[in-house]
Amino acid sequence: MHRKNFQFSQASVDYFFEGGFNALKQLVNPATTVIITDENVFSSHHKKLKNWKLIVLKPGEKYKVQDTVNSIIKQLIEYGVDRKTTIVGVGGGVVTDMTGYVASIYMRGIRFGFVPTTLLAMVDASIGGKNGIDIGLFKNMVGIIRQPSFLLYDVALLSSLPEKELRNGFAEVIKHASIKDSVMFHELEITSMAYFKRNRASLDKLIQRNALLKTKIVQKDEFEIADRKLLNFGHTIGHALETQYKLSHGEAISVGMAYASSISSSLVKFKDEERVISLLDKFGLPTSLKFNKDRVFNVLKMDKKKDQNSINFILLKKIGNAIIKELPVDQIYSFL
Ligand SMILES: NC(=O)c1ccc[n+]([C@@H]2O[C@H](COP(=O)([O-])OP(=O)(O)OC[C@H]3O[C@@H](n4cnc5c(N)ncnc54)[C@H](O)[C@@H]3O)[C@@H](O)[C@H]2O)c1
Repeated sequence: MHRKNFQFSQASVDYFFEGGFNALKQLVNPATTVIITDENVFSSHHKKLKNWKLIVLKPGEKYKVQDTVNSIIKQLIEYGVDRKTTIVGVGGGVVTDMTGYVASIYMRGIRFGFVPTTLLAMVDASIGGKNGIDIGLFKNMVGIIRQPSFLLYDVALLSSLPEKELRNGFAEVIKHASIKDSVMFHELEITSMAYFKRNRASLDKLIQRNALLKTKIVQKDEFEIADRKLLNFGHTIGHALETQYKLSHGEAISVGMAYASSISSSLVKFKDEERVISLLDKFGLPTSLKFNKDRVFNVLKMDKKKDQNSINFILLKKIGNAIIKELPVDQIYSFL
C-alpha cells in the first residue's frame, strides 16, 4: 500500500493505493467507526464487513434522497455516534455522495472517509468533496463541498462489480481523457474493457492515473469557479436524461458526451467527434437516445451550471483540450 497526500483549501486528504480493504483497521478505530454501505456491496463482501458497525442502504440512485439521509441519521443516533466517530462510505457513488453529505451535516460535521467499490467511484465520485442528494428530477440539487479525510483503494473489490457498472466507470475515464489527456485517449483506443478486466495491474494504474487527474483539477479549483467545470463535459445533457429515462449515470453522460462532441463540431470546429463516439461505442456505452426534447429541456434549464438564460457548456476544441463556453439555453434547445 502506498500513501499520497493532497492538500485542499480546508483539508488534507490521504489516498491509499494498492491496499486491501483490511488496511481500513489501520486508518480508523473500529470501535469508533460506522460503515455505510449498500445491500449489493454487503452481499458480495460481507466477510470483509464482518465485525464493523454497519448501516446498509437499499442500492441505487432512487435512494439518493432526503428520506435515506433521515434514516441514516436515525441509525447514527441509535449507534450513539458523536463527534469522535468516523463514518466510512464503502460503496459506489451513491453511497459515497450520501455518506459525505450526512457526515457533513450530522452534528455540524464529523470525520469521514471512503472505500470506493465501483470504477466510477474510484476515478470520479469519491474524489473532490462534492457530496449530496437528488431532489425529484434534479440531480445533486442539495449538497456540500467537503473533503473526506482519506480514500482507500482496493481494486479487488471490483471483482464482484457487474459488467454494466464497469462500463459506467469507463464513461468517466473517457471523459477525463477527452478533456485533459490525449495520450490516455489514444491508449484507450488501442485497448479494450476486456483487456483491463484481464490485467488488474493495468486497471489499477488506469485508476490511479484518473484519480490523480481529477484531483489535480479539483486542487486548482475546488469550488468550481473555472477549470473544475471541465469535469462537467457531457453532464449538462446527461443529467437531464439520467433522472427521466432508465439510464445509469455512465450511460447518461455517454449520450451527453456524444451530443457535446457534436455541438463542439458545429461551434468550435472540433474535428474528432467520430473518435469520441467510436471510443464510447467500443466500451459498450450508448451514444444516442430517443427522448422527448421538451421534457429534457425543462430539466436542463434548471441545471446548476445555469446563469440567467445561459449555461456554461463544456466543448472540445481538440481531444485533451476542453473549453467552457457560455451558451444561451435556446441555442442548446436547438441542438437537441
Ligand atoms: N461527487 C461527485 O463528484 C460525483 C462524480 C460522479 C458521479 N457521482 C455520483 O455517483 C453516482 C453514480 O455512482 P455509481 O455508478 O458508483 O453508482 P452506485 O453507487 O449506484 O453503484 C452502482 C451499482 O453497483 C453496485 N455495486 C457497487 N459496488 C459494487 C461491487 N463492488 N460489487 C457489486 N456491486 C456493486 C451498487 O449497489 C449499485 O447497484 C451518481 O449518483 C452520481 O451523481 C458523484
